[in-house]
Order: sequence, then structure tokens, then C-alpha cells
Amino acid sequence: MADTPDPTRPDQTAANDEAREPLPRELLSRTHLALPQGRARDQSRNGPRSAFEKRYLEGEAEPSRDIVGYASIKSRLHARLLDELDEQDMLDTDEERLAAHVRDFTARVLATEDLTLNDDERRNLSDDLMQETVGLGPLAPLMADPAVTDILVNGYNRVYVERFGRLEHTAISFRDNEHLIRIIQRIAASIGRRIDEASPMVDARLRDGSRVNATLPPISIDGATLSIRRFGTRRLTRDDLRRLRMLSDPMLTFLDLAVRGKLNVLISGGTGAGKSTLLGALCESIGQRERIITIEDAAELVLTQQHVVRLETRPPNIEGTGRVGTRELVMNSLRMRPDRIIVGEVRGPEAFDMLQSMNTGHDGGLTTIHANSPRDALSRLETMVLTAGTELPSRAIREQMTSALQLVVHVRRFEDGVRRIGAISEITGMEGDTPQLQEIFGYKYRGTPGGPRTITGSFATAGIVPRCVETLRERGINVPIELFHNTD
Ligand SMILES: Nc1ncnc2c1ncn2[C@@H]1O[C@H](COP(=O)(O)OP(=O)(O)OP(=O)(O)O)[C@@H](O)[C@H]1O
Ligand SMILES: [Mg+2]
Repeated sequence: MADTPDPTRPDQTAANDEAREPLPRELLSRTHLALPQGRARDQSRNGPRSAFEKRYLEGEAEPSRDIVGYASIKSRLHARLLDELDEQDMLDTDEERLAAHVRDFTARVLATEDLTLNDDERRNLSDDLMQETVGLGPLAPLMADPAVTDILVNGYNRVYVERFGRLEHTAISFRDNEHLIRIIQRIAASIGRRIDEASPMVDARLRDGSRVNATLPPISIDGATLSIRRFGTRRLTRDDLRRLRMLSDPMLTFLDLAVRGKLNVLISGGTGAGKSTLLGALCESIGQRERIITIEDAAELVLTQQHVVRLETRPPNIEGTGRVGTRELVMNSLRMRPDRIIVGEVRGPEAFDMLQSMNTGHDGGLTTIHANSPRDALSRLETMVLTAGTELPSRAIREQMTSALQLVVHVRRFEDGVRRIGAISEITGMEGDTPQLQEIFGYKYRGTPGGPRTITGSFATAGIVPRCVETLRERGINVPIELFHNTD
């Protein structure tokens, strides 16, 4: 428990985030690394920066000394390269000229600057920079900005980004719809996929792990669209989430113990609420010796344990065959001697197999589900089980759910842009035909005195000792009762 907060300290038991201080610098510098400077970046945005972002950017003018190594040197050079290309109006020229410039830039830098790179790194630098620069057109500066977590192109002249949890319109624009389509096709081609009128949608993972989705007209009525969920720049750890105030210390301690004690946990929330991020952070609590099988549509989870087998679903090929879905992977994973099965997101019939595995001794399952509340999560799960075609009566499905799952953790992106755990609820059984949920922790929302972006409220406990404490105790895990004391 060395790295978990001390639950017995009274000032932590009902963490109040009313007086929100600026976020800790070291958190930002570690998760965002060095930011690109200069014109390419500044042109990409409109409007004033938030105060804390400004402070961060100013403080970060000199790259922080504790960031060393190839990745950071490359990212700084990349930023300079983009500035140069931007100054010479070359960001979107043809690939050959661009590639020549990148080679020239790399040679110049390697010859004139004293960079702490080894021979391999020197050889790779040009190729790596090329890969990150060529083919993205006007999006290159956005992809190079580690603070950008999402890029949303709603049409050739409407490009939005999310930075620091806020969506902003940018000044970036493609020349026309054709131009945007060309860039989309290049991105798709770079990962071996095709997008055209015959198959006008693509959903894939870029080499760096970012998730990309694109649609072409006539599917998207107002022109081509593109959304990129950036990945790798900002993998938030459990500790980051605590400092970003996604949850209170007692909540974190409780979840840590629940995962270690192999309770089955369902994380629910809306699109982009932070479900996958929380899932990844909770996985940190899994023991080093456990054999973990992860099943995802586009592999996002990065686990540090040793025994990890990552499985990824496969879409059908152009002839419509060869599809491998989550359900098949869940069934297969049961034959792989897993200690834990982690399903990135349940969306369909795999819900049935997952619940069955949990009910037959595969404990410690973690997954996420798209839902608006913990109760909604259960009813959606039931609907998903129905799609498995087992023709179980509703009541049997609900019984299966309530015996398989112990906790539902609901995450929400609040109006102030902060993602918080809105509730941790325990599934306590059935009453009549209805599964019973009991809230253990929740976020008590008080209001928005200074406008919608200034939510006040605090995390609180319901003051109830959950039943799973007994289950955990039987598994040798003692949950401090103080966690559930209400200090309000
Ligand atoms: N507590 C947090 N504070 C700030 N940013 C966060 C937090 N949690 C997640 N994010 C960021 O929010 C974005 C969405 O997170 P994530 O992918 O986890 O959401 P999701 O609910 O799984 O989305 P989807 O419905 O698309 O699967 C990511 O860029 C992530 O880095
Ligand atoms: Mg997700």
C-alpha cells in the first residue's frame, strides 16, 4: 500500500475540490512532455488560453531538464521542423519536397548540434521525423502538440481540438473537401486500410496507438469527417487521476483494494467520459504475477505487468469475411488459462460470455460500458445479453448479472470539463425482479455559482459499509472501515 493514499487521514476522507488549485506542474510536464513552440502552434488555435495553461506554457518555455532521451529530443526537433516548414509555407507541399526538407533538416541538426543520441537514434531520426510529418497536411502541428488529446474535423474548414479537457475551434482549414479526403486516404493507406466511395467508413488505430475514425460523403452529409483520439501523449496513471481530481483518495483506496481482491467491476459512462482511462489506471492494481488477457477493438490499454496477452478484434475484409469479434475473443481467452480477463468495452453478445465466465470462477474481470448511470449500465448489459441469442428469461439474466458483478463505477465529464467519478455503486442482489444498486461513494454536486464552468461540489461517502468488504476480507484483504465514514 506504499503508493496509495492514507485513508485514515481525516482531511482526505471527503476530498473537497471546491477551491481548485492549479494542477501540479510535474504532472503536466510529465504527461505532455515538451510543447512545440512558435508559429505552427499558435496559428492552430483561437481565443485566449486558460490561466493555468498559460502559466504552464510560459513555465515550459525552456524544456524541462528532467525530460531526457530520444523521445523528448525528437519531439523538440519535430516542433522546430514544423516551425520551419510553416515559415516557408511548406506544411502541405508534395511528399517528395517535404521528405527532402526533413532529410536536410536532420542532417543540419545532427552536424551542428551536440545531441545526446546514439548511432541507432541518429540513423532513425530522419525516418521518424518523416513519419510524423509527411501525410498529415494541415493536421501535422496538431499531431505534434502533446496537449491535444482529440482532433475533430467536421468538414474541411471546421477543425476542433480538445486540450486540457476543453474543446476549441482552431484556425486550421483544408483547402476544400477534396483536400481533406486526400489526407484521410493517406492516413488510411499508411495503416493498410482503404477508404473510398465503396467503403466510406474507416475505424482504425494509427501506429502510435491513436484511434482514428473517418467517414466520406454521402455517408457524412456535409463532407468528409475525421476524428482522432490521440494516444501515447497522455496516458494518465492512477496517481494522475487522483491529482486531476477524478476521484477522492478514499475512493481510490477502495477501488485499489477491490481490484486487488478480484471483485468484478463495470465502469460506465458516456462517450469520452474517461472510461478507458480509468480502466487502464485500475489495472495498475493487478498483481505482477497474474496472467492478464486484454480484449479490445483498438488496443488502448498499456499494462506494465509481465504476463499480458493482448487480443484485438478484426473487422471484416473487403469481401465481408474474416471478422473476429469480441465474443469469439472472450470465448477463446477462457482457454488461455487467464487469471484476469479485461474487455475494453462490452457492446454486444460478448456480455453473455463475460458474465458466464465471471460466474464460473473467473474473478477480477474489468470492463467498460457506454451508459448514462449505473442503473442504465445494468439495463444496457441486459439488452446486450439478449443479443447473444440464448433466450434466457429476463429474470435469469438479471440474476446472472447480479451474481457476476460487484461494482459499477460511473464516470462523467462535468460541465466544467473535469471528468469525475460520479458514483461507485455496489450491486447487492435482487429485490423481486429488480437488481439492487447501493451507492457507496458519489460526487455531491452543489451548483455553478460562477457560470457553467465553475462547478462546486465534493466527493462524499454514503456512510454505508459495503457488503463486498466481507468478500474482500475472506480473500485476505482488509478494507479500512474509516473509508466509509461520512465527515460532512
Ligand atoms: N480524469 C481525467 N482528466 C482529464 N482528462 C481525462 C481524464 N480521464 C480521461 N481523460 C482524457 O479524456 C479523453 C477520453 O478518455 P477515454 O478514452 O478514457 O474515454 P472513454 O469514455 O473511454 O471514451 P470512448 O467512449 O470514446 O471509449 C482522453 O483524451 C483522456 O486522456
Ligand atoms: Mg473507451
